[in-house]
Amino acid sequence: MAMPLLAFIFLLFFFPLHSAGDSSFPSVVDYSILPHALSDNKSLCSQLVLPAGYPCAEHKIQTKDGFLLGLQRVSSRDGELEKQKGPPILLLHGLFMAGDGWFLNSARQSLGFILPDNGFDVWIGNVRGTRWSYGHSSLSEDEKEFWNWSWEELALYDLAEMINYINSLTNKKIYIVGHSQGTIMSFAALTQPDIAKKVGAAALLSPISYLEHITAPLVRLMVDTHLDTIILASGFHELNFKSDWGTVLLDNLCDRLVNCINILSSITGENCCLNRSRFDLFFKYEPHPSSAKNLHHLFQMIRKGSFSKYDYGLLKNLRVYGQRVPPEFDLSRIPESLPLWMAYGGNDELSDWTDLENTIKKVKSVPELVYLENYGHVDFILSMKAKEDVYDPMIKFFKSLGKSSSL
Ligand SMILES: *[C@@H]1O[C@H](CO)[C@@H](O)[C@H](O)[C@H]1NC(C)=O
Ligand SMILES: *[C@@H]1O[C@H](CO)[C@@H](O)[C@H](O)[C@H]1NC(C)=O
Ligand SMILES: *[C@@H]1O[C@H](CO)[C@@H](O)[C@H](O)[C@H]1NC(C)=O
Repeated sequence: MAMPLLAFIFLLFFFPLHSAGDSSFPSVVDYSILPHALSDNKSLCSQLVLPAGYPCAEHKIQTKDGFLLGLQRVSSRDGELEKQKGPPILLLHGLFMAGDGWFLNSARQSLGFILPDNGFDVWIGNVRGTRWSYGHSSLSEDEKEFWNWSWEELALYDLAEMINYINSLTNKKIYIVGHSQGTIMSFAALTQPDIAKKVGAAALLSPISYLEHITAPLVRLMVDTHLDTIILASGFHELNFKSDWGTVLLDNLCDRLVNCINILSSITGENCCLNRSRFDLFFKYEPHPSSAKNLHHLFQMIRKGSFSKYDYGLLKNLRVYGQRVPPEFDLSRIPESLPLWMAYGGNDELSDWTDLENTIKKVKSVPELVYLENYGHVDFILSMKAKEDVYDPMIKFFKSLGKSSSL
Protein backbone atom coordinates (compact mmCIF):
# COMPACT_ATOMS: atom_id res chain seq x y z
CA MET A 1 0.00 0.00 0.00
CA ALA A 2 2.10 2.86 -1.29
CA MET A 3 -0.58 5.51 -1.06
CA PRO A 4 -1.26 5.48 2.67
CA LEU A 5 2.48 5.51 3.09
CA LEU A 6 2.65 8.86 1.37
CA ALA A 7 0.24 10.41 3.83
CA PHE A 8 2.08 8.69 6.63
CA ILE A 9 5.44 10.06 5.57
CA PHE A 10 3.84 13.44 5.22
CA LEU A 11 2.58 13.27 8.78
CA LEU A 12 5.87 12.01 10.18
CA PHE A 13 7.71 14.71 8.37
CA PHE A 14 5.35 17.27 9.65
CA PHE A 15 4.54 16.56 13.24
CA PRO A 16 7.95 16.79 14.91
CA LEU A 17 8.13 20.43 13.93
CA HIS A 18 5.02 21.22 15.86
CA SER A 19 5.15 18.91 18.81
CA ALA A 20 8.67 19.25 20.13
CA GLY A 21 7.35 20.67 23.38
CA ASP A 22 5.18 17.64 23.99
CA SER A 23 7.87 14.99 23.86
CA SER A 24 8.33 14.86 27.60
CA PHE A 25 4.77 13.73 28.21
CA PRO A 26 4.37 10.03 28.82
CA SER A 27 2.19 8.25 26.33
CA VAL A 28 -0.99 7.49 28.23
CA VAL A 29 -2.72 5.23 25.75
CA ASP A 30 -0.69 2.42 24.27
CA TYR A 31 -2.13 2.06 20.81
CA SER A 32 0.01 -0.96 20.02
CA ILE A 33 -2.14 -3.13 22.26
CA LEU A 34 -5.39 -1.93 20.72
CA PRO A 35 -7.20 -4.32 18.43
CA HIS A 36 -6.95 -3.34 14.76
CA ALA A 37 -10.64 -3.82 14.57
CA LEU A 38 -13.06 -5.56 16.86
CA SER A 39 -11.93 -9.16 16.80
CA ASP A 40 -15.42 -10.45 16.08
CA ASN A 41 -18.50 -9.00 14.52
CA LYS A 42 -20.90 -9.55 17.34
CA SER A 43 -23.68 -7.04 17.39
CA LEU A 44 -23.76 -3.75 19.27
CA CYS A 45 -26.75 -5.07 21.24
CA SER A 46 -24.85 -8.16 22.38
CA GLN A 47 -21.62 -6.30 23.17
CA LEU A 48 -22.78 -3.28 25.12
CA VAL A 49 -26.53 -3.15 25.70
CA LEU A 50 -27.83 -6.62 26.61
CA PRO A 51 -25.01 -7.23 29.14
CA ALA A 52 -26.18 -4.13 31.02
CA GLY A 53 -29.62 -5.67 31.34
CA TYR A 54 -31.47 -3.62 28.72
CA PRO A 55 -33.69 -5.22 26.04
CA CYS A 56 -32.18 -4.52 22.62
CA ALA A 57 -32.99 -5.62 19.06
CA GLU A 58 -30.94 -5.34 15.88
CA HIS A 59 -32.61 -3.93 12.75
CA LYS A 60 -31.09 -3.83 9.29
CA ILE A 61 -32.14 -1.24 6.73
CA GLN A 62 -31.10 -0.47 3.16
CA THR A 63 -30.58 3.05 1.80
CA LYS A 64 -31.72 4.11 -1.68
CA ASP A 65 -28.09 3.93 -2.82
CA GLY A 66 -27.65 0.39 -1.54
CA PHE A 67 -25.90 0.72 1.83
CA LEU A 68 -26.95 -1.69 4.59
CA LEU A 69 -27.12 -0.04 8.00
CA GLY A 70 -27.54 -1.42 11.49
CA LEU A 71 -30.07 0.21 13.82
CA GLN A 72 -30.56 -0.86 17.43
CA ARG A 73 -33.78 -0.45 19.37
CA VAL A 74 -33.41 -0.22 23.15
CA SER A 75 -35.98 -0.10 25.94
CA SER A 76 -35.83 0.36 29.70
CA ARG A 77 -34.54 -2.46 31.88
CA ASP A 78 -38.00 -3.54 32.93
CA GLY A 79 -39.67 -2.55 29.65
CA GLU A 80 -40.53 -4.28 26.41
CA LEU A 81 -39.17 -3.16 23.07
CA GLU A 82 -42.42 -2.52 21.27
CA LYS A 83 -44.26 -1.19 24.28
CA GLN A 84 -42.11 1.74 25.34
CA LYS A 85 -44.58 4.51 26.04
CA GLY A 86 -42.56 7.48 24.99
CA PRO A 87 -41.97 8.81 21.49
CA PRO A 88 -39.25 7.31 19.28
CA ILE A 89 -35.92 9.04 19.60
CA LEU A 90 -33.00 8.54 17.19
CA LEU A 91 -29.38 9.00 18.30
CA LEU A 92 -26.90 10.12 15.63
CA HIS A 93 -23.20 9.76 16.44
CA GLY A 94 -20.30 11.97 15.30
CA LEU A 95 -17.43 11.56 12.83
CA PHE A 96 -15.16 8.54 13.43
CA MET A 97 -17.64 7.29 16.01
CA ALA A 98 -20.68 5.00 15.89
CA GLY A 99 -23.69 4.03 17.99
CA ASP A 100 -21.49 2.37 20.62
CA GLY A 101 -20.39 5.84 21.78
CA TRP A 102 -23.72 6.29 23.58
CA PHE A 103 -23.01 3.32 25.90
CA LEU A 104 -19.38 3.68 26.99
CA ASN A 105 -19.86 5.12 30.46
CA SER A 106 -21.90 3.49 33.23
CA ALA A 107 -25.64 2.96 32.71
CA ARG A 108 -26.37 5.92 34.99
CA GLN A 109 -24.07 8.19 32.97
CA SER A 110 -24.68 7.13 29.34
CA LEU A 111 -27.42 8.66 27.19
CA GLY A 112 -28.12 5.31 25.47
CA PHE A 113 -29.33 3.96 28.83
CA ILE A 114 -30.74 7.14 30.37
CA LEU A 115 -33.24 7.76 27.56
CA PRO A 116 -34.93 4.34 27.70
CA ASP A 117 -35.04 4.63 31.50
CA ASN A 118 -37.03 7.82 30.91
CA GLY A 119 -39.58 5.96 28.82
CA PHE A 120 -38.37 6.87 25.33
CA ASP A 121 -38.43 4.35 22.48
CA VAL A 122 -34.72 4.59 21.68
CA TRP A 123 -33.14 3.94 18.28
CA ILE A 124 -29.37 3.97 17.76
CA GLY A 125 -28.18 5.04 14.30
CA ASN A 126 -24.94 3.85 12.68
CA VAL A 127 -23.91 5.44 9.39
CA ARG A 128 -22.34 3.68 6.39
CA GLY A 129 -18.72 2.64 6.79
CA THR A 130 -18.87 2.15 10.57
CA ARG A 131 -18.34 -1.31 11.99
CA TRP A 132 -22.03 -1.64 12.94
CA SER A 133 -23.22 -1.14 9.39
CA TYR A 134 -23.41 -4.18 7.13
CA GLY A 135 -21.76 -3.08 3.89
CA HIS A 136 -23.55 -2.63 0.60
CA SER A 137 -25.96 -4.61 -1.55
CA SER A 138 -23.50 -4.81 -4.47
CA LEU A 139 -20.24 -3.02 -3.59
CA SER A 140 -17.46 -4.40 -1.41
CA GLU A 141 -15.52 -2.28 1.08
CA ASP A 142 -12.40 -2.78 -1.05
CA GLU A 143 -13.92 -0.88 -3.95
CA LYS A 144 -13.32 2.83 -4.07
CA GLU A 145 -16.93 3.41 -5.10
CA PHE A 146 -17.95 2.08 -1.66
CA TRP A 147 -16.28 5.13 -0.08
CA ASN A 148 -17.62 7.69 -2.57
CA TRP A 149 -19.73 9.77 -0.14
CA SER A 150 -19.60 12.53 2.45
CA TRP A 151 -21.93 13.76 5.23
CA GLU A 152 -24.24 14.93 2.44
CA GLU A 153 -25.12 11.29 1.62
CA LEU A 154 -25.21 10.47 5.33
CA ALA A 155 -27.93 13.13 5.64
CA LEU A 156 -29.93 12.58 2.47
CA TYR A 157 -29.71 8.77 2.29
CA ASP A 158 -28.74 7.28 5.67
CA LEU A 159 -30.65 9.63 7.96
CA ALA A 160 -33.61 9.82 5.57
CA GLU A 161 -33.87 6.01 5.55
CA MET A 162 -33.53 5.70 9.34
CA ILE A 163 -36.36 8.20 9.80
CA ASN A 164 -38.58 6.51 7.18
CA TYR A 165 -38.01 3.14 8.77
CA ILE A 166 -38.72 4.19 12.37
CA ASN A 167 -41.68 6.25 11.25
CA SER A 168 -43.17 3.32 9.31
CA LEU A 169 -42.85 1.01 12.35
CA THR A 170 -44.08 3.43 15.00
CA ASN A 171 -46.36 5.78 13.08
CA LYS A 172 -45.02 8.61 15.21
CA LYS A 173 -42.91 11.67 14.65
CA ILE A 174 -39.32 11.14 15.69
CA TYR A 175 -37.13 13.10 18.06
CA ILE A 176 -33.53 13.42 16.93
CA VAL A 177 -30.42 13.70 19.12
CA GLY A 178 -27.26 14.44 17.14
CA HIS A 179 -23.66 14.98 18.11
CA SER A 180 -21.22 16.82 15.82
CA GLN A 181 -21.43 15.11 12.40
CA GLY A 182 -24.86 13.92 13.55
CA THR A 183 -25.88 17.60 13.80
CA ILE A 184 -24.63 18.59 10.35
CA MET A 185 -26.56 15.59 8.99
CA SER A 186 -29.64 16.79 10.88
CA PHE A 187 -29.37 20.40 9.69
CA ALA A 188 -29.01 19.26 6.06
CA ALA A 189 -31.80 16.68 6.27
CA LEU A 190 -34.23 19.04 8.02
CA THR A 191 -33.99 21.49 5.10
CA GLN A 192 -35.83 18.77 3.11
CA PRO A 193 -39.61 19.04 3.73
CA ASP A 194 -40.32 15.33 3.21
CA ILE A 195 -37.84 14.45 5.98
CA ALA A 196 -38.67 17.36 8.30
CA LYS A 197 -42.37 16.50 8.38
CA LYS A 198 -41.55 13.19 10.13
CA VAL A 199 -39.40 14.83 12.83
CA GLY A 200 -40.93 16.18 16.06
CA ALA A 201 -37.91 18.01 17.49
CA ALA A 202 -34.12 17.94 17.49
CA ALA A 203 -31.53 18.21 20.25
CA LEU A 204 -28.09 19.07 18.92
CA LEU A 205 -24.87 18.55 20.89
CA SER A 206 -21.81 20.46 19.63
CA PRO A 207 -23.85 21.73 16.67
CA ILE A 208 -21.98 22.30 13.42
CA SER A 209 -22.98 23.57 10.00
CA TYR A 210 -20.64 26.49 9.31
CA LEU A 211 -17.08 25.50 10.13
CA GLU A 212 -14.94 28.49 9.21
CA HIS A 213 -13.93 29.38 12.76
CA ILE A 214 -12.74 25.99 13.98
CA THR A 215 -9.79 26.62 16.29
CA ALA A 216 -8.50 23.08 17.02
CA PRO A 217 -4.77 23.42 16.24
CA LEU A 218 -4.24 19.96 14.79
CA VAL A 219 -7.27 20.34 12.54
CA ARG A 220 -6.19 23.79 11.35
CA LEU A 221 -2.77 22.38 10.61
CA MET A 222 -4.24 19.60 8.48
CA VAL A 223 -6.62 22.01 6.76
CA ASP A 224 -3.92 24.57 5.97
CA THR A 225 -1.59 21.93 4.56
CA HIS A 226 -4.40 20.37 2.49
CA LEU A 227 -3.78 16.97 4.03
CA ASP A 228 -7.29 15.98 2.84
CA THR A 229 -6.43 16.83 -0.75
CA ILE A 230 -3.17 14.93 -0.50
CA ILE A 231 -4.92 11.88 0.90
CA LEU A 232 -7.50 11.84 -1.90
CA ALA A 233 -4.94 12.58 -4.60
CA SER A 234 -2.95 9.62 -3.30
CA GLY A 235 -5.86 7.42 -4.30
CA PHE A 236 -6.87 6.80 -0.75
CA HIS A 237 -10.61 6.34 -0.08
CA GLU A 238 -11.17 4.78 3.32
CA LEU A 239 -9.94 6.41 6.54
CA ASN A 240 -9.52 3.66 9.09
CA PHE A 241 -7.27 4.34 12.06
CA LYS A 242 -7.63 0.73 13.19
CA SER A 243 -6.27 -0.65 9.90
CA ASP A 244 -2.62 -1.77 9.75
CA TRP A 245 -1.36 1.54 8.42
CA GLY A 246 -3.60 3.48 10.77
CA THR A 247 -2.25 1.63 13.79
CA VAL A 248 1.31 2.22 12.66
CA LEU A 249 0.54 5.88 12.18
CA LEU A 250 -1.04 6.31 15.59
CA ASP A 251 1.70 4.23 17.22
CA ASN A 252 4.31 6.53 15.80
CA LEU A 253 2.45 9.69 16.61
CA CYS A 254 1.68 8.61 20.14
CA ASP A 255 4.97 7.03 21.11
CA ARG A 256 7.39 9.30 19.40
CA LEU A 257 5.84 12.62 18.67
CA VAL A 258 2.89 13.67 20.76
CA ASN A 259 0.99 12.19 23.59
CA CYS A 260 -2.37 10.74 22.69
CA ILE A 261 -4.36 12.64 25.22
CA ASN A 262 -2.85 15.72 23.61
CA ILE A 263 -3.91 14.48 20.19
CA LEU A 264 -7.47 14.22 21.43
CA SER A 265 -7.29 17.73 22.91
CA SER A 266 -5.66 19.26 19.87
CA ILE A 267 -8.47 17.86 17.74
CA THR A 268 -11.48 18.36 20.00
CA GLY A 269 -10.46 20.99 22.56
CA GLU A 270 -9.75 20.26 26.22
CA ASN A 271 -12.37 17.86 27.57
CA CYS A 272 -13.13 18.48 31.23
CA CYS A 273 -14.74 15.33 32.44
CA LEU A 274 -13.67 12.14 30.71
CA ASN A 275 -13.11 9.06 32.85
CA ARG A 276 -9.49 8.13 32.19
CA SER A 277 -9.89 4.65 33.56
CA ARG A 278 -12.30 4.01 30.70
CA PHE A 279 -9.89 5.04 27.91
CA ASP A 280 -9.10 1.43 27.04
CA LEU A 281 -12.80 0.78 26.57
CA PHE A 282 -13.29 4.00 24.55
CA PHE A 283 -10.42 3.11 22.23
CA LYS A 284 -11.58 -0.47 21.91
CA TYR A 285 -14.58 0.92 19.99
CA GLU A 286 -13.38 4.28 18.69
CA PRO A 287 -12.36 5.45 16.15
CA HIS A 288 -14.61 3.97 13.46
CA PRO A 289 -13.82 4.29 9.76
CA SER A 290 -15.09 7.08 7.53
CA SER A 291 -14.38 8.15 3.96
CA ALA A 292 -11.58 10.40 2.73
CA LYS A 293 -14.21 12.25 0.70
CA ASN A 294 -16.11 13.06 3.88
CA LEU A 295 -13.00 14.59 5.47
CA HIS A 296 -12.32 16.51 2.26
CA HIS A 297 -15.87 17.90 2.18
CA LEU A 298 -15.58 19.07 5.81
CA PHE A 299 -12.18 20.65 5.16
CA GLN A 300 -13.55 22.41 2.06
CA MET A 301 -16.17 23.97 4.31
CA ILE A 302 -13.58 25.09 6.85
CA ARG A 303 -11.59 26.73 4.06
CA LYS A 304 -14.60 28.38 2.41
CA GLY A 305 -16.91 29.10 5.31
CA SER A 306 -19.95 27.79 3.45
CA PHE A 307 -22.54 25.17 4.36
CA SER A 308 -22.80 23.69 0.91
CA LYS A 309 -22.68 20.49 -1.11
CA TYR A 310 -19.43 18.82 -2.12
CA ASP A 311 -17.21 20.94 -4.34
CA TYR A 312 -16.02 18.95 -7.39
CA GLY A 313 -14.22 21.91 -8.97
CA LEU A 314 -15.55 24.24 -11.63
CA LEU A 315 -16.05 21.91 -14.57
CA LYS A 316 -17.59 19.02 -12.70
CA ASN A 317 -19.73 21.39 -10.61
CA LEU A 318 -21.23 22.64 -13.85
CA ARG A 319 -21.95 19.05 -14.88
CA VAL A 320 -23.30 17.85 -11.53
CA TYR A 321 -25.07 20.98 -10.23
CA GLY A 322 -25.44 23.14 -13.36
CA GLN A 323 -23.55 25.97 -11.64
CA ARG A 324 -19.93 26.92 -10.94
CA VAL A 325 -20.08 26.56 -7.16
CA PRO A 326 -21.91 23.87 -5.20
CA PRO A 327 -25.39 24.84 -3.93
CA GLU A 328 -25.72 25.82 -0.27
CA PHE A 329 -28.02 24.10 2.19
CA ASP A 330 -30.61 26.73 3.08
CA LEU A 331 -31.05 26.62 6.87
CA SER A 332 -34.07 28.93 6.66
CA ARG A 333 -35.98 26.02 5.11
CA ILE A 334 -35.97 24.17 8.43
CA PRO A 335 -39.60 24.58 9.56
CA GLU A 336 -40.09 27.42 12.02
CA SER A 337 -42.44 25.17 13.99
CA LEU A 338 -39.74 22.54 14.61
CA PRO A 339 -38.46 22.85 18.20
CA LEU A 340 -34.65 22.92 18.43
CA TRP A 341 -32.45 22.52 21.49
CA MET A 342 -28.69 23.02 21.37
CA ALA A 343 -25.83 22.47 23.82
CA TYR A 344 -22.37 23.89 23.15
CA GLY A 345 -19.12 24.05 25.07
CA GLY A 346 -16.64 26.82 25.90
CA ASN A 347 -13.68 24.49 25.25
CA ASP A 348 -15.13 22.89 22.14
CA GLU A 349 -12.64 23.76 19.41
CA LEU A 350 -14.66 22.09 16.65
CA SER A 351 -17.99 23.79 17.29
CA ASP A 352 -17.09 27.47 17.55
CA TRP A 353 -19.53 30.06 18.89
CA THR A 354 -19.08 32.42 15.91
CA ASP A 355 -20.06 29.61 13.55
CA LEU A 356 -22.95 28.54 15.75
CA GLU A 357 -24.18 32.14 15.94
CA ASN A 358 -24.22 32.14 12.13
CA THR A 359 -26.28 28.97 12.12
CA ILE A 360 -28.74 30.33 14.68
CA LYS A 361 -29.20 33.53 12.67
CA LYS A 362 -30.19 31.51 9.61
CA VAL A 363 -32.69 29.10 11.18
CA LYS A 364 -36.18 30.52 11.68
CA SER A 365 -37.10 28.71 14.86
CA VAL A 366 -35.55 30.02 18.07
CA PRO A 367 -33.47 27.27 19.67
CA GLU A 368 -33.20 26.70 23.38
CA LEU A 369 -29.49 27.01 24.25
CA VAL A 370 -27.39 25.38 26.96
CA TYR A 371 -23.83 26.62 27.40
CA LEU A 372 -21.23 24.59 29.28
CA GLU A 373 -18.11 26.60 29.86
CA ASN A 374 -15.70 23.76 30.57
CA TYR A 375 -16.97 21.27 27.97
CA GLY A 376 -14.88 20.08 25.03
CA HIS A 377 -16.22 18.29 21.96
CA VAL A 378 -16.20 14.78 23.43
CA ASP A 379 -17.63 15.71 26.84
CA PHE A 380 -21.12 15.84 25.35
CA ILE A 381 -20.96 12.07 24.85
CA LEU A 382 -18.52 10.85 27.47
CA SER A 383 -18.40 13.34 30.35
CA MET A 384 -18.95 11.67 33.71
CA LYS A 385 -21.35 14.52 34.55
CA ALA A 386 -23.18 14.73 31.21
CA LYS A 387 -26.39 13.50 32.81
CA GLU A 388 -26.71 16.51 35.11
CA ASP A 389 -25.09 18.99 32.71
CA VAL A 390 -26.69 17.99 29.42
CA TYR A 391 -29.08 15.05 29.38
CA ASP A 392 -31.42 16.09 32.20
CA PRO A 393 -32.14 19.50 30.62
CA MET A 394 -32.50 17.82 27.21
CA ILE A 395 -35.03 15.32 28.54
CA LYS A 396 -36.92 18.14 30.21
CA PHE A 397 -37.09 19.86 26.81
CA PHE A 398 -38.43 16.74 25.09
CA LYS A 399 -40.95 16.06 27.86
CA SER A 400 -42.25 19.62 27.75
CA LEU A 401 -43.09 19.09 24.06
CA GLY A 402 -44.86 15.82 24.74
CA LYS A 403 -47.39 17.66 26.89
CA SER A 404 -48.45 20.05 24.17
CA SER A 405 -48.26 17.80 21.11
CA SER A 406 -50.20 14.72 20.11
CA LEU A 407 -47.27 12.35 20.56
C1 LIG B 1 -18.34 -12.04 10.63
O1 LIG B 1 -19.57 -12.42 10.03
C2 LIG B 1 -19.43 -13.04 8.78
C3 LIG B 1 -20.80 -13.25 8.17
O2 LIG B 1 -21.78 -13.34 9.14
C4 LIG B 1 -18.63 -14.34 8.91
O3 LIG B 1 -18.46 -14.96 7.67
C5 LIG B 1 -17.26 -14.01 9.51
O4 LIG B 1 -16.54 -15.18 9.73
C6 LIG B 1 -17.42 -13.25 10.81
N1 LIG B 1 -16.09 -12.80 11.26
C7 LIG B 1 -15.66 -13.02 12.49
C8 LIG B 1 -14.28 -12.55 12.78
O5 LIG B 1 -16.33 -13.57 13.34
C1 LIG C 1 -18.86 9.51 -7.03
O1 LIG C 1 -20.17 10.01 -7.02
C2 LIG C 1 -20.33 11.14 -7.86
C3 LIG C 1 -21.71 11.72 -7.64
O2 LIG C 1 -22.50 11.00 -6.79
C4 LIG C 1 -20.08 10.74 -9.29
O3 LIG C 1 -20.23 11.88 -10.12
C5 LIG C 1 -18.67 10.20 -9.41
O4 LIG C 1 -18.41 9.76 -10.71
C6 LIG C 1 -18.43 9.09 -8.44
N1 LIG C 1 -17.00 8.78 -8.41
C7 LIG C 1 -16.54 7.57 -8.55
C8 LIG C 1 -15.08 7.41 -8.45
O5 LIG C 1 -17.27 6.61 -8.72
C1 LIG D 1 -14.68 5.64 35.95
O1 LIG D 1 -14.64 4.34 35.37
C2 LIG D 1 -14.30 3.33 36.30
C3 LIG D 1 -14.03 2.07 35.52
O2 LIG D 1 -15.11 1.65 34.81
C4 LIG D 1 -15.41 3.21 37.31
O3 LIG D 1 -15.13 2.19 38.23
C5 LIG D 1 -15.56 4.55 38.02
O4 LIG D 1 -16.67 4.50 38.90
C6 LIG D 1 -15.76 5.68 37.03
N1 LIG D 1 -15.70 6.95 37.73
C7 LIG D 1 -16.73 7.82 37.79
C8 LIG D 1 -16.52 9.02 38.61
O5 LIG D 1 -17.76 7.63 37.20
